[in-house]
Parts: sequence; C-alpha cells; structure tokens
Amino acid sequence: KLGFLASVLFASLMFSTHANAAKVYQVATDAAYAPFESLNSKKEVVGFSVDILEAIAQKTGMKIKFINTPWEGIFATLPNGDRDMVISSVTITPERKQSMDFSEPYFEAKQLIAVNKKSKVSKFTDLKTIKVGVQTGTTGDEVIQKLQGKTSPNIKRFESTPLAIKELENGGVDAVVADNGVVVNFVSNNPKSNLKIIDDATFAKEYYGIAVKKGNKALIEQINKGLAAIKADGTYEKIYTKYFGK
Ligand code: ARG
Repeated sequence: KLGFLASVLFASLMFSTHANAAKVYQVATDAAYAPFESLNSKKEVVGFSVDILEAIAQKTGMKIKFINTPWEGIFATLPNGDRDMVISSVTITPERKQSMDFSEPYFEAKQLIAVNKKSKVSKFTDLKTIKVGVQTGTTGDEVIQKLQGKTSPNIKRFESTPLAIKELENGGVDAVVADNGVVVNFVSNNPKSNLKIIDDATFAKEYYGIAVKKGNKALIEQINKGLAAIKADGTYEKIYTKYFGK
C-alpha cells in the first residue's frame, strides 16, 4: 500500500516539476516599433525590449516566446490568458495599473512631435487645431486628447505608429505625436524623409514596464529580480549601448 502511495506521490511530483520546466511564457509585442520591437527580414521579433526580456529570462531560467500581437487588444490577452506578458514599450500609467500589473521600469521615454520640414509648428500648443496622427490608445493619443479634447475630429488614429508616420509623409496629417525613441529612429534611418522633430518642455517623462495579468505577483517578482540582476551585472548597459549609443 505504501509503495503504491509513494509511487503516486513520485509520479505527481515528476509531473509537476516537468510541467514547470516545460512552461513557456507567451509574450505579446506589437512588433512595429523599432528600435524597441520590430520584425527583421526573417520575420523574427527583434529590438531593445526583446533583448532586455531575453536577458531577464536567461537570468531567471524562464522560457519565453514572443508573439507579434496587434496593439489594439494587446492588453486583453493578459486577463484571458492568451499571453503571460506584454513587452511593447508600454508606458506605466495609473489608469493601466488598475487593470494589469507592471514590472519596475526598463526604459525612460517621453513624447515628441514629428512634422513636415516646412511646417510652422514649433511647440505642442501649435497642434491645437491641426490634424494630428497617433497610434490608437497610446500615450501619444492621450497627450493630444488633453489639448484637442477626446472627441476632436482632428485626431487621426492609426493601428500602428509607422502607419501614422507614413500618413504624415504623404500630407494626410499635419503632425504625429509618438514616443521619442521611435520618432528619432525613423527620422535618422530615413534621411530622405521630409520630416523634422520638435521637442516640447511640457512633455512628461514616461517609463516603460513589462505588464502581466493583474495579481500575478510571482511573475512580477521573477521579472523584477531578473531586471535588477541585468542592471547590476552590466548586461542592461550593454544592451542600451547597442541600441542607443553611450
Ligand atoms: N509608450 C506608448 C504607450 O504605452 C506607446 C507604445 C506603443 N508600442 C508599440 N509597440 N506599438 O502608449
């Protein structure tokens, strides 16, 4: 009898450690956001956020799989269990914190304005009555809503930030408001583009975090441990320099 119990116990122990070892965390990212997350020519997800999470995973022994996921609906994949994490240059905001949990910040950002080189726009308040393109539901969207009002017909929302920038190049909108890293990356990689960048002192600092399902404290702790470890041993700095220089 005891032998039977022992073998049941042993089997279930084996099963649980095995199940644990096999756990692959599904990571959602909207891979249209270079240099943070984008697709390379082999359609692999690459970028700063990707390297950071891969380094964290290596430190903590987590297995992860990136899944290119549209920004609209990306957060809904956490409560429904489709994804375990979102790493997608997500700004930690008080509103988002109500429906998901965030890691410690892994990047500091802010908004920037892109306009045509010939534009007379020189500051944020100049965007009050002109057509502004944003990626739907981003902090850029929130920022322009504060100036123009939530229901302003001059806010043009796009599925992705590259689509908003394309529309600006084509003259369909007069400005784009988006995260600094992405705007700078676009303009410096497209020297022939007709765009220029405008900074505004009123833009607040934003911090990117890794999001998990609300209440998943164990996962957040693991991520934070890994993040602290890669900051402490120089890995974070190495990745930062790779993408943004010294
Ligand atoms: N930081 C901004 C936000 O959280 C934009 C992030 C967009 N990320 C992306 N991969 N498209 O709203």
